[in-house]
Amino acid sequence: MIVQLRESRRQLPVRRQTRRLVAVCLAATAFTVALGMQAMNLPPVREPFSADFNWKFLIGDPAGAEAVGFSDASWRTVNLPHDWSIEGKPDPNNPTGPGEGYFPAGVGWYRKAFTAPPSWNGKRVAIEFDGVYMDATVYLNGQKLGTHPYGYTSFYFDLTPHLKFSAANLLAVRVDNSAQPNSRWYSGSGIYRHVRLWVTEPVHVAHWGVFVTTPKVSSARATIAVRIRVANDTTGQAAVIVRTVLTGPSGGLLGQAESPANAAAGRETEVTQELSVANPALWSPRTPQLYRAITRVWKGGRLIDEVVTPFGIRSLAWSVEKGFLLNGKSIKLAGGSLHHDNGPLGAAAFDRAEERKIELLKAAGFNAVRTAHNPPSPAFLDACDRLGLLVLDEPFDVWKQAKVKNDYARFFADWWQRDIDAMVLRDRNHPSVVLWGLGNEIPEAWTKEGAPMARMLSSEVRKLDQSRPLTQAATGATFGESPDAVFAVLDIGGYNYNLSANGFEDHRRVPSRIMMSTESFPAAAFEQWQLVHANPYMVGEFIWTAMDYLGESGIGAPSYLSPEQAAKADVASQFLMKIVARNGAEGENVFAGAPSADLKVFFPNYPWHAASCGDLDLTGFRKPQSFYRDILWNGGDRVFATVHVPDPEGKKTIAIGWSVLPTMPSWTWPGQEGKAVQVDVYSGSEKVRLFLNDKLIGEKPTGRAQQFKATFTLPYVPGTLRAVGLRGDRKVAESVLTTAGEPAQLRLTADRDMVRADGQDLSFITVEALDAKGRVQPNADPPVEFQISGPGVIAAVGNGDGTSDELYQGHQRRLFHGRALVVVRTSKTPGTIQLTATAPGLTPARQSIRAQMAIPQHELQ
Ligand code: GAL
Repeated sequence: MIVQLRESRRQLPVRRQTRRLVAVCLAATAFTVALGMQAMNLPPVREPFSADFNWKFLIGDPAGAEAVGFSDASWRTVNLPHDWSIEGKPDPNNPTGPGEGYFPAGVGWYRKAFTAPPSWNGKRVAIEFDGVYMDATVYLNGQKLGTHPYGYTSFYFDLTPHLKFSAANLLAVRVDNSAQPNSRWYSGSGIYRHVRLWVTEPVHVAHWGVFVTTPKVSSARATIAVRIRVANDTTGQAAVIVRTVLTGPSGGLLGQAESPANAAAGRETEVTQELSVANPALWSPRTPQLYRAITRVWKGGRLIDEVVTPFGIRSLAWSVEKGFLLNGKSIKLAGGSLHHDNGPLGAAAFDRAEERKIELLKAAGFNAVRTAHNPPSPAFLDACDRLGLLVLDEPFDVWKQAKVKNDYARFFADWWQRDIDAMVLRDRNHPSVVLWGLGNEIPEAWTKEGAPMARMLSSEVRKLDQSRPLTQAATGATFGESPDAVFAVLDIGGYNYNLSANGFEDHRRVPSRIMMSTESFPAAAFEQWQLVHANPYMVGEFIWTAMDYLGESGIGAPSYLSPEQAAKADVASQFLMKIVARNGAEGENVFAGAPSADLKVFFPNYPWHAASCGDLDLTGFRKPQSFYRDILWNGGDRVFATVHVPDPEGKKTIAIGWSVLPTMPSWTWPGQEGKAVQVDVYSGSEKVRLFLNDKLIGEKPTGRAQQFKATFTLPYVPGTLRAVGLRGDRKVAESVLTTAGEPAQLRLTADRDMVRADGQDLSFITVEALDAKGRVQPNADPPVEFQISGPGVIAAVGNGDGTSDELYQGHQRRLFHGRALVVVRTSKTPGTIQLTATAPGLTPARQSIRAQMAIPQHELQ
């Protein structure tokens, strides 16, 4: 079938040309295969050179470290991604303070020598950083190329003018994270994401120069619109042919479009093309099917550039009446706000660590994530595309007005536009990204400045992408002229903690406003979801938070108070909840006007260095609240029994704000024999029966009216506790807790025992203490030592305890609730990696991991 494509001609800031295009949409015929082969057999013309390996590194700020002749012989060698903060211990004297988890920061230098082959002469060579925290200054051969303050946006520099061919070149990067505090959460320090070089012809596809959208989508046919910017860095006009080849989820060729263009000298020329796909495989969290647009530029009969853009075919529609329709079907955002760190690995954005996070979140029932409060790594979004997770991509935590002394507000005026551009241009092809944010709890949003600033930011985003709605996470009082003016700029109103307090009133006043909860308290799980579930104009929620993160030390920790303190705290806590809901939770302001200084106990700070309010802990293990959430969001005949941790002697456990009363899925409570314990059963079935040692304790309904849970109080007797979920009298689910004996042995379980020997792949290995019968001992906390042999290293250890004073980068970790996590990183040598875990008095455990030969990638050497 031959499809005639639309012609259009528009004048834009860069010179754009649209030519008559012909797209050939092919059925699955021999012709397709032949053309496909031809497409596949072309030699690759543009491949990145990884610059992740063999950097010299120093924490410190020696003068002249950018100079070629400077001696870095005494510096250590590191590979990226690298975060130097996580190498250190939290220290209450570190200026990063509680917000950043008391980790060390400061200034660091990276230097890398490499040779530019003679074949690069006459080409354009650019270096791209996916993220450096923060304030990076980049030098080549002693020449300053530029700076990039924001720690979360990608940036690139042209190396061409300063390169030496067939000779040594020196890259130097100064990273300045010394102005503290500069963040409200753990940022990490260093080149914590990938770095690569792009080598292209002088006429090439511009950086982030392909934009693919799917303006018309039905199950029968989809229109694919492709915009390509061709950069011509020469002094003469270049006649080129720009061809887009479309391949489907299984790799087959689906069609192509071709446009001749005259690329004007020293400028960018835009070419637009339109293709069509019959019976498209639509992208959704359940069906994350990816197509590819392969953009090729030909000049004088020679292929001079090629860029591959994965994309998804999907439609988004948002309305007050129908909520959010993905591919025409209603879906509620069951989402979590998520910071960028990878727990024990710190900020280091290894591809596998990013991918694992998505796997864990999906397995816990999430279908969406909000990248609080900054753009994520490209690897994170690639994984969301591949695995199917919807994303709210958010640029900032502040605009002009700072929340902490040295935060991004220092740079906003000069950099906001470049940082917005970097986010939108880089991320706009990801099908997973369905929403753009403008900011989180922006202090000046509710002043007269708010609306003009929101307009300024939103028009920049909309200039670059009109296919996604805009939102902003607002807190506090949403009533009044200024808030309404800001909301009017947005497509969807984001509410932090105040949806239940303000949502209905706002809806009555402004019935056209689509709303969602951009943050909520863990304990408000049911109430929030009820709202979202029951009201079409509320399109979803993003809980605070999906996963524990470093920093915001102890914000989710429960408090253990004397009865007198507890009585005061109760009053104080109600006050706190009220002001957070109505007025926002801006740092120290939370305490303003509080009736009692006892509120401070809810923010315990050091030795806490992690937040502890996530559904998943720092190592990725699911907390009981995660099992509740999954049942709440996704239903299903499932039950989960968990037991309240008894109050410490003479104390009362209090949970407010971001904490929940601590429970454990354990029936091993030595010392509690005969005392009353409280058991919560989360249930997606009609009712539950609880049995202790086969004796019926009781039966309770667990429908929506009971918030999908039942609570039983019973005297603790060791043995087996069994919660049975029922529909009518039919057993449909079961959750069993058994008393474990003394710890006797260790067990290691790798998430993957087959990994790639590429120097960056990771295996996440769970360490558990078991009793003699092989049951997990949830109270065991022995110190465990790890030995590793073969071609791998221990990249990190962790245990989910946000107060631990052990190093995350070491060979030893105590178990916490009977378990811990070891992260093993491969080298570039294939072979078998052996990990051994030993602990006093316990039988050791071993785990082998096969590191298989990886497809070699181009590397800067
Ligand atoms: C919110 C804020 C988040 C986080 C959370 C818990 O108000 O937007 O970034 O700080 O409180 O402390």
